[in-house]
Amino acid sequence: MTTKAATETPAPSARKPAFPFFDLKGQYAHIREEVLAAVARVFDSQHFIYGPEVLKFEEEIAAYVGTQFAIGCASGSDALLLPLMALGIGPGDEVITPPFTFVATAGSIARLGARPVFADIEPGTFNLDPEMIERAITPRTRAILPVDLFGLIADMDPIMEIAARHGVAVVEDAAQTIGAKYKGRNAGAMGPVGCFSFYPTKNLGGAGDGGIITTNDPDLAHKLKLLHEHGSPRRYEYEVVGANSRLDALQAAVLRVKLRYLEDWTEARIGNAARYDHLFTNSTCRDQVVLPKTPEESRHVFNQYVIRVPKRDQLRQFLQQAGIATEIYYPYPLHLQPAFAHLGHKPGDFPESERASAEVLALPIYPEMTPAQQVAVVSAITDFYSQA
Ligand SMILES: Cc1ncc(COP(=O)(O)O)c(C=O)c1O
Repeated sequence: MTTKAATETPAPSARKPAFPFFDLKGQYAHIREEVLAAVARVFDSQHFIYGPEVLKFEEEIAAYVGTQFAIGCASGSDALLLPLMALGIGPGDEVITPPFTFVATAGSIARLGARPVFADIEPGTFNLDPEMIERAITPRTRAILPVDLFGLIADMDPIMEIAARHGVAVVEDAAQTIGAKYKGRNAGAMGPVGCFSFYPTKNLGGAGDGGIITTNDPDLAHKLKLLHEHGSPRRYEYEVVGANSRLDALQAAVLRVKLRYLEDWTEARIGNAARYDHLFTNSTCRDQVVLPKTPEESRHVFNQYVIRVPKRDQLRQFLQQAGIATEIYYPYPLHLQPAFAHLGHKPGDFPESERASAEVLALPIYPEMTPAQQVAVVSAITDFYSQA
């Protein structure tokens, strides 16, 4: 596949950004002593698998999300895979999901031999369009896998209603959305099961890979506990074929420290998003830039602040030269990726996802970002369009 964006964008080393896209070092500087103490606690105990850190973290996440159970696992990707396994999804089954998402969403379906059935997104929110879900339902549909993209929960009421009407499950990909709300309900508690990632750049990011699954269903929780531990209820007894997908005690210990800061960091992200909105609305580039939408009754937690712009790749290059790092999530929708060629799609099949891939640009939004840095970003974008 030719990578248009990649060829047009100078190598990141060409010029060191004046400020980065993420600032994990800045975040770490604030919590260094607490993180190191937590890591030392695990080393001193030599209890690296399960143990009190994992149990307490699972309890703390269940309390934060408002579910009865939370089951740690090895990654956000496994947090999607294990519930689909628990639902018995496999060859001959279909699961409806958007093509405009991270690869793991559809990958988790394909890894089980089931068919990802793509449904297009709603352009304002980048999330699954319920009307498109309805059109994609067939007698083979077993589940809907909506993604809460960039920090905004999908339009879950109609999705839950469609799922109930057709008797199919809902698995919520909340990998990017911890702390978000939809009509007073929390991300990960929308449907029967929620899936989170602790990839380091997530709003709650670990010191490596990690994930967690949330549910109120005791049967599902039981199956998930079995599946993430080789299908084993007791040592050397195996009820089903499972995986080794545990959350490390070291990750749990670090994440427990960071969970205490999550609300402050989330509020900082929301504040930064409001500042961008204000700066763009008052700039001469306001007619070029489409701002992210937060529907009423939603709390968007801005894992990413994603704008739509004309001449996106040229703008990105201009910003890079000005020392401003940006990202493109996602430059190619999944239906056009070689990994999903077996589904037989072609350009034009999901026009809103394709248009989003061509127009989106994620701006830095990390909690430690200063107002002056945000002013610099918006000024540079304004300069680009005033020269264009
Ligand atoms: C929407 C979405 N789903 C799934 C994942 C997979 O999570 P992980 O990278 O922890 O496996 C990610 C994270 O990158 C994601 O953004």
